[in-house]
Amino acid sequence: MKKIEEYVRSIPDFPEPGIIFRDITSVLQDAEGLQLAINSMQEFLKDVDVDVIAGTESRGFIFGVPIAYNLHKPFVPIRKKGKLPCETVSASYDLEYGSATIEMHKDSIKPGQKVAIVDDLIATGGTIEAAIKLVEELGGEVVKVIFLMELAGLHGRERLKGYDVESVICYE
Ligand code: PRP
Ligand code: ADE
Repeated sequence: MKKIEEYVRSIPDFPEPGIIFRDITSVLQDAEGLQLAINSMQEFLKDVDVDVIAGTESRGFIFGVPIAYNLHKPFVPIRKKGKLPCETVSASYDLEYGSATIEMHKDSIKPGQKVAIVDDLIATGGTIEAAIKLVEELGGEVVKVIFLMELAGLHGRERLKGYDVESVICYE
């Protein structure tokens, strides 16, 4: 049986020179790879009391929704600016390349709810730091943060001190 890291395709110099892009399409387009990715990420929630799964646009949706579905929990999308139609909270951050603003509907999390945040990858940690800020602004408690991949050389985990952070694959 292939290991999960064998399904990830690494593309040098995309989208900019110097970036090694860790491509998940090669995981998703293989039925075994997809199962392995979802199951491996979901395993981190085995003994966790969680009310809501939240995922960041767009790749966090791909992994977050099946995990929420399997656990019979609601899924909350954390979207890029300007996409959500009702009242929102928002936070801006810098990325490995570029910058962005993310938003959540104000009514998407109820105060006191336990939230697990899911994304495909942590690079600088800016996206997830902003996502945590929004969940907490709405009164949620972040009980777990789960990634398929971690780019350890960018030290994103250091920005998430005090949170329970898990990744399936770690690139040095
Ligand atoms: C990528 C990735 C993470 C984020 C990681 O998303 O899916 O969400 O960057 O980077 P960070 O740790 O430095 O914040 P991107 O914003 O490129 O959006 P996409 O999922 O829509 O491609
Ligand atoms: N998002 C931020 N950095 C990335 C990388 N190196 N590969 C894939 N997605 C990313």
